[in-house]
Amino acid sequence: MSSELQVKVAVITGAARGIGLEIAQKFHSEKYHVVILDYNKEALQDCKAKLKGKKRYSYFLCDVSKPKQIQKVFDQITSKFEAVHALVNNAGIAIFKPAQDITFEDWNDVLSINLGGTFNCSKIFYPALLKGQGAIVNIASISGVRASTLRIAYGTSKAAIMHLTKQQAVEYGNYGVRANAIAPGPVETEMAKLVHSADIRTSYADAIPLARYGTMEEISNAVYFLCSPAASFINGQIIAVDGGFDAAGVGLPSLRN
Ligand SMILES: NC(=O)c1ccc[n+]([C@@H]2O[C@H](COP(=O)([O-])OP(=O)(O)OC[C@H]3O[C@@H](n4cnc5c(N)ncnc54)[C@H](O)[C@@H]3O)[C@@H](O)[C@H]2O)c1
Repeated sequence: MSSELQVKVAVITGAARGIGLEIAQKFHSEKYHVVILDYNKEALQDCKAKLKGKKRYSYFLCDVSKPKQIQKVFDQITSKFEAVHALVNNAGIAIFKPAQDITFEDWNDVLSINLGGTFNCSKIFYPALLKGQGAIVNIASISGVRASTLRIAYGTSKAAIMHLTKQQAVEYGNYGVRANAIAPGPVETEMAKLVHSADIRTSYADAIPLARYGTMEEISNAVYFLCSPAASFINGQIIAVDGGFDAAGVGLPSLRN
């Protein structure tokens, strides 16, 4: 077997920027060949320019809500590599609007990318993950753990991703492929800039015991851990990387004062 076939492969969706790009760089630093998938042409070009000259990266323009596009990527990857060892379903969009203002189109866009994309990529890459006895990490959100305003589509999609993760853990786990999810708290990225109003930022500061946003590195470390041999018996878990947001009840701001 050639050394190219033996290398560990990680597929990261929505990896042209933000948390996905950070996860891609983490796996790369751990000697993986990293496959970057994104549907934003411009962001993908910027990402390529940023990582220019670095070996062990492949780039694909691919919309995770479109199974045919993912299948094409799968065919190209598996013609070069025998197996995939990690799949991180990170691609996602956020549309924050009051429940009565969300349109059916908004709802379908959020569900088909966040939930549908996670299902599609897992299903299509499963044969290669099986060969690699790999691991899936789905990126959910604390918005899927606890409900709050404006997130009727986004929060529902993320809650569904958590249950999808458990379904995958039960079925794929039987064959040695683990599936877990990370539920990040707020992280300063382009997405957060778009949907986190001043109000939302103040509310997060009030509700998170660590009283700050998380970093992309804090998320990527947790994702990498779940794919690593150190997590070999962890399957079907949702790990909140959220500064204690999910653990906290009422009274935190007054306790601080
Ligand atoms: N930033 C936060 O505060 C936060 C908190 C919790 C969860 N998350 C989740 O983390 C993930 C990454 O978010 P981010 O903050 O880095 O956002 P981001 O918008 O900066 O990056 C998301 C990337 O996904 C890509 N993408 C979106 N739809 C796609 C599709 N259909 N096909 C392929 N690529 C697609 C985008 O082009 C973009 O490059 C998302 O799933 C998001 O819901 C983010």
